[in-house]
Amino acid sequence: MFKIPHIAPDRLPSVLRLMPKAELHVHIEGTLEPELIFKLAQRNHVSLPYASVEALRAAYQFSDLQSFLDLYYAGASVLLHEQDFFDMAWAYLDKAAADNVVHAEIFFDPQTHTARGVPMETLIKGLHHACQRAHQEFGLSAKLILCFLRHLSEEDAFATLEAALPFRHYFIGVGLDSSELGHPPAKFERVFARCRELGLHVVAHAGEEGPPEYIHQALDLLKAERIDHGVQAVRDPALMQRLAEERVPLTVCPLSNIKLCVFPTLAQHNLKSLLDAGLCVTVNSDDPAYFGGYVNENYVELFAALGLEPRHAYQLAFNSFEASFADAAQKKAWEHGLKAFFERLREQD
Ligand code: ADE
Ligand code: ZN
Repeated sequence: MFKIPHIAPDRLPSVLRLMPKAELHVHIEGTLEPELIFKLAQRNHVSLPYASVEALRAAYQFSDLQSFLDLYYAGASVLLHEQDFFDMAWAYLDKAAADNVVHAEIFFDPQTHTARGVPMETLIKGLHHACQRAHQEFGLSAKLILCFLRHLSEEDAFATLEAALPFRHYFIGVGLDSSELGHPPAKFERVFARCRELGLHVVAHAGEEGPPEYIHQALDLLKAERIDHGVQAVRDPALMQRLAEERVPLTVCPLSNIKLCVFPTLAQHNLKSLLDAGLCVTVNSDDPAYFGGYVNENYVELFAALGLEPRHAYQLAFNSFEASFADAAQKKAWEHGLKAFFERLREQD
């Protein structure tokens, strides 16, 4: 077992910010900052029901997932051209690189855009070119995961998959997001089976607001390789045991959970219980433009609220690499880099 050096508590926030990490749960449409929403609205002659950036930001008060999604889909309506998708993704990747994210697996919601008449090619190519440039400029590997909107039908998901197939090489997997309650994973069993046949990785949001049963369905019916959120698993001890034994990663998003009232305060978040139970937990930002912070703010605020220690920092960053869809050699290289980062802290002691 790797021995973590002593780190004085006042140095921990900067260690969290500087350590290399992967981000595995970020919706690119959720990185659209109010300033960029207004800029794109002007560029594309789209009218917004808010008078200013400040007025829009002031509306970011949510009572649950649905109250957020209503605003999130409205914000995405300014995205029309390939350049818009590039600009959105580039703004995120620039911030991620500054947060020492070395690998990002990024969700996108094509149905939000194709339903408004934006061609699949336009959005995928805009996102892809930003990912390509991030690799060239920052050495940050960025991969795309296509998400199906679960409030829509499975038929719509099949049509979306069909439309995306000419661009199959631009994304590594599929996910399931949007309104969870009333839309169980079972609704999408057949389309996920098809995705697996196509060699796509499979993830699903489950147990954010929904019951542990949705996590069981995501594992058993969709064969999800990771569970996005999954924090409701603590309500089911047998499920907790299974997640720990099978080392199914959970991509947890602390600030999101507070903003959407999944937990009343960060101090009451259950991430430490999940870690202590031996689960492969990771820390992520979800929709950072809406929830008050990118991945580093998620780490720093969570650690302060829960009194987490340097060993947790190492474990969470390690988990983020383990849980990624990179190949084994790449994971080893990142894990080696993480150890070297902590070793250098020992030398500075
Ligand atoms: N789409 C964007 N953010 C989401 C979240 N937190 N849960 C479900 N769908 C989402
Ligand atoms: Zn999410």
